[in-house]
Amino acid sequence: EYPHYPPCSPRDRASFAYETVSKRWPVILTQVIDAIYRACDSGTYATPEAEEEGKELIRKVGKLKYNISRNAIMEPIEDDGGANIELYNSMLSFLELQQQNMWFTAPWLYAECYLYRHLRTTFAFSKHWKAFDPFRGQKERAFKEMGKGVYDLAEMMHKLDTEKEDLDINEQALEVLFSDMIQMCLWGNTVDLSLLTSLDVDHLAQLQQVGAAANSARSDLILRNDTDALWTHVRQIKNARLDIVLDNSGLELFTDMVLADFLVTHTPFFSEVVFHPKTIPWFVSDVMPADFFSLLSAMTTPHYFGQAPSPSHEQYVTSLATRWQSYVDCGVFRLSSPPGQAEGEHMGEVVQENGVDWWVGPGVYGLMDENEDGIRALEALRGSGLVVFKGDLNFRKLTADVRWPPHTQFDQAIGTLAGRFPLLALRTNKADVIVGLREGFAQELDQKDKDWRWSGKYGLICFCPGGTV
Ligand code: F6P
Ligand code: MG
Repeated sequence: EYPHYPPCSPRDRASFAYETVSKRWPVILTQVIDAIYRACDSGTYATPEAEEEGKELIRKVGKLKYNISRNAIMEPIEDDGGANIELYNSMLSFLELQQQNMWFTAPWLYAECYLYRHLRTTFAFSKHWKAFDPFRGQKERAFKEMGKGVYDLAEMMHKLDTEKEDLDINEQALEVLFSDMIQMCLWGNTVDLSLLTSLDVDHLAQLQQVGAAANSARSDLILRNDTDALWTHVRQIKNARLDIVLDNSGLELFTDMVLADFLVTHTPFFSEVVFHPKTIPWFVSDVMPADFFSLLSAMTTPHYFGQAPSPSHEQYVTSLATRWQSYVDCGVFRLSSPPGQAEGEHMGEVVQENGVDWWVGPGVYGLMDENEDGIRALEALRGSGLVVFKGDLNFRKLTADVRWPPHTQFDQAIGTLAGRFPLLALRTNKADVIVGLREGFAQELDQKDKDWRWSGKYGLICFCPGGTV
């Protein structure tokens, strides 16, 4: 039976799960309350009726916070017409049988997904706040601080454009560049607002070290690196489709798009990219369709990131945005989103795919083929040349978030997903679960740095080859 080990759980007081449920969630929920207060003073939410509803929402989020702190029972998700309710509630009934249906006794992964799904229901039942994303302001404010990362990467892409012909003939150079791009995209995942309880500018500056020099300085921090096997796969495909199951908005999404652009524009391997966002506000900073489009418009908004290092840098960013917008317009870059989900005030044009809501459910990926939505999600990935899973939460879902021995093989940990399609996980470690390490390595790390599993300082590049779905 899969998975064979007990779940990561806040029942273990020494775990990051416990730290999260007891300390980090209350901060995140307080930020939600702040966002409602702020919205009440502005725009569409400033009417007396919306404000009244806002107060009610604040009361409900406050109650949720209180319920978590007293380890209350998690109630079934109410039917708001949204996705995954059946799966959430059937898993909850199962947990109830084992008396694990409380905030501090449920498996951490389930409880955390439930938290964001439950929040969505709260807003969905209102009249004025249905489309409200309580994390949107945070996502935008953080991206504005990311100018350095954006300008550096845009300059790098500009240089690549001018060196294109050399790359066409020099496979060795292409391989080095490919590896750099993968690492750049990995470190993009360090930027995660759910870990930053306040916006610390120095910390944000440090997180933006995403160029080639920063890569080599940090390569020791990659605890497993399958880039060679990945390259062996990638170099033999042509005009394939790349799928990216996205994680965070802002600089991380920017690095995802740089990787996508590099592969489509500068290599023969891929000719189209499908980005898979979330359809509800999720783990604070995850990409929703609106965030995808606001990134493109931020790049062409003068002084969005403050003063550019030079007028040329401003130009590099604008021309990148122009190319990406043209890729969106002609369908080379597509957003996978279920019909009706990607509409609304900030959305612009969306190229619809046969998208699914599986990514905001509680299900682990190794059991995707046991659920109808999971099967639809697999269907959407069929035929992909490479599916990239970004970030920590995707890694937790890939590995079922259980306490595997750290030297467990990655392909064992991902259950029935192994071999279905070529799969790459790019994850900086922000949670207890770990697999894919050589034997004894975890113990060495325990001696060296007690926070190595969750500080976000270390990363993994895990590749599992495969045919098509
Ligand atoms: O709070 C839980 C958590 O899943 C952490 O493990 C991690 O810090 C964050 O939320 C999500 O990280 P990411 O954005 O990389 O998926
Ligand atoms: Mg995230």
